[in-house]
Amino acid sequence: MSPQEKPKTITKPGIDTSKVEKIIQNYIENNGNALTILQSVQESFGYLPFEVIEHISERIGIPLGKMYGIATFYAQFKFHRRGKYIIQICDGTACHVKGSMLLEEFITKELGIKPTETTSDNLFSLEKVACFGCCAIAPVVFINKDVYGNLTPAKLKKIFKKYRRMEATP
Ligand code: FES
Repeated sequence: MSPQEKPKTITKPGIDTSKVEKIIQNYIENNGNALTILQSVQESFGYLPFEVIEHISERIGIPLGKMYGIATFYAQFKFHRRGKYIIQICDGTACHVKGSMLLEEFITKELGIKPTETTSDNLFSLEKVACFGCCAIAPVVFINKDVYGNLTPAKLKKIFKKYRRMEATP
């Protein structure tokens, strides 16, 4: 299909098709490539929705397999919907020894999500990552760009309250 042909409709709820069209137009105008498209999709949606990648692949003629080959090569790309706050819990040895499993259990109990999942209000996502390089303050959790060290479930509870308060404040 040529990029100029009328697009098929994306049926997945919550996908803003005007964002998809912008990405395609940008690709056409700037002579982009598969990597820049994937970056734009992630920037717009926070992850790579399958329907969007499939749609763009058809529109611009880059095979879906190639798009996914590139997407799976780079750790920056995510395949699951992500919340406003990305909780990254360190899975490194020092954090493990200092109780990161307790933190993970607490997060699952408190927010009802396991790694790779997002809360139903789209506020928090949980991810496990390798050592952050700040083992001296293990166990460590990042929430977006904020670093929290020497954590316990009780401290984490207060931190979540802070984020919820921020959301409740107009
Ligand atoms: S093991 Fe967690 S920061 Fe290094």
